[in-house]
Amino acid sequence: MNNPLAEGQQSRLTEPCSLVIFGATGDLTSRKIVPALYNLLKDGQLPSLFTCIGFARRPKTHNEFRAEMKEAVSKYSRTKPIEDSIWNHFQDHLFYHQSEFHEDEGYAKLKILLEQFDTKYGTKGNRVFYLATQPVSFPVICEKLHKAGLIYDQKKTKDQKSDKWSRVIIEKPFGHDLTSAHQLQDELLKFLSEKQIYRIDHYLGKETVQNLLVFRFANSIFESLWNNQHIDHVQITVAEDIGIGTRGKFFENAGLLRDMIQNHTMQLLSLVAMEPPVSLEADAIRDQKVKALEAIRPLKVEEVVRGQYGPGLVNGQDVIGYRQEQDVNSQSNIETYLALKLFIDNPRWFGVPFYLRAGKRLPKKTTEIAVIFKDAPGILFQNGNRKNPPNILVIRIQPDEGSSLKINCKVPGPTNTMQPVKMDFRYGSYFGTTPPEAYERLICDCIVGDSTLFAREDEVFNSWKLLTPLLDNWAKNPPKELPNYPAGSWGPKAADQLIEADGRKWRLI
Ligand SMILES: NC(=O)c1ccc[n+]([C@@H]2O[C@H](COP(=O)([O-])OP(=O)(O)OC[C@H]3O[C@@H](n4cnc5c(N)ncnc54)[C@H](OP(=O)(O)O)[C@@H]3O)[C@@H](O)[C@H]2O)c1
Repeated sequence: MNNPLAEGQQSRLTEPCSLVIFGATGDLTSRKIVPALYNLLKDGQLPSLFTCIGFARRPKTHNEFRAEMKEAVSKYSRTKPIEDSIWNHFQDHLFYHQSEFHEDEGYAKLKILLEQFDTKYGTKGNRVFYLATQPVSFPVICEKLHKAGLIYDQKKTKDQKSDKWSRVIIEKPFGHDLTSAHQLQDELLKFLSEKQIYRIDHYLGKETVQNLLVFRFANSIFESLWNNQHIDHVQITVAEDIGIGTRGKFFENAGLLRDMIQNHTMQLLSLVAMEPPVSLEADAIRDQKVKALEAIRPLKVEEVVRGQYGPGLVNGQDVIGYRQEQDVNSQSNIETYLALKLFIDNPRWFGVPFYLRAGKRLPKKTTEIAVIFKDAPGILFQNGNRKNPPNILVIRIQPDEGSSLKINCKVPGPTNTMQPVKMDFRYGSYFGTTPPEAYERLICDCIVGDSTLFAREDEVFNSWKLLTPLLDNWAKNPPKELPNYPAGSWGPKAADQLIEADGRKWRLI
């Protein structure tokens, strides 16, 4: 493909390859994956020798698939309107392959197709297999790919300095508890090496999440204060205003802990809490994230609050409660909200509480990390109780990506009256551009072979290790009073009590 490199963009060294999307007629493919590929091409970030093959079971011609994907890109692309010259170029390299996931014949035909493309389009035998499917299909697809000779032996490839590689992107969730995550990993390792597995947590592809490393380790003013000497506590909020919508079936088997805490929230926590890595190599960073997760003290059940939304008002609109949603049991005990307190028992963080909260049908969609510094003594500038309001650093992950620092300032006038003011940085207005979608960055990283922004097996296991005892406890002790917060509120009262018992408050966002 031609690379119409956008002005000011840096292109990364992507090698020729074919990308096969398993689950190509699904929601994720049309909403995220294909729009991401289109924008990568537009920004000159796709390899110049590239093909994309959609794999699913519905019969469909190449042209039908292309027309559907064009409609999807027109609707979901971050850049609009769709540019015909770029789209036409893209669709000439876009194909559809019909097969069931368990059919050997489908993989044999896929292999022939890919080899033809290697010759025709110069894709050189390199493969990315994107498993945009339900997790139950991950092992069978890997088994069949392996059997068809489509997954190369990583060690052999390295030793022989072959330039062919195969990588597999796996969607979340990775297991539904610690045991199942280990079982899934054992299954995958029969066919792949860990180095070939790219576990997606799309939060890691967000520009602001990546900026956490720069923010912490390239700014000495913050890193030198990043410890229990100066920080009072940390609050992480992952809030959504939407309800479950059409995902009732999935959510009834998952719940909020599995959907948002085990992956996104724990990833944010590990990036905030980790020690400096020795380099920016993937494993150097991930080693430190794992150490932070390993140091988390086991959770106390009484320091975890679960909630479920009832009917309420969101953005001025009446909305139904969780139990009234489509495909949801009218007596469901599944949590749509969680707040918890945890401690990290290492020298940097000893004694600093981390308060995490996440939920559906909260007043607004927002994800942020707030670092609340210790109060400055109010000896000079008294503020009633001889304490000055704390400095607060807020890193906004979404929307309105950026960061702000709250500092105390003298109000102009003859007295020493003080007022907290905000220094604010916004990505959009400063750089004058919307950051790329997380999927763009992650797909590009996989093609480049950079696994930094993908969760390694021990990150996933450590997160499950912390949270599985909670799930086990809940299975034996169903909650008594659900629903316990109206849609459109900031969660159950018990969540306020959790933090207020320590003399603190959730931030008003
Ligand atoms: N949707 C999202 O926004 C989102 C966000 C984060 C993570 N995820 C994860 O991404 C994965 C995919 O989600 P999704 O919402 O795209 O799923 P989906 O809409 O249910 O799509 C499933 C896809 O798999 C195909 N498929 C299912 N069984 C098959 C079989 N036996 N043989 C061949 N093809 C088969 C379907 O093909 P047919 O149509 O031909 O049956 C369809 O293309 C899930 O693991 C989900 O948890 C999704």
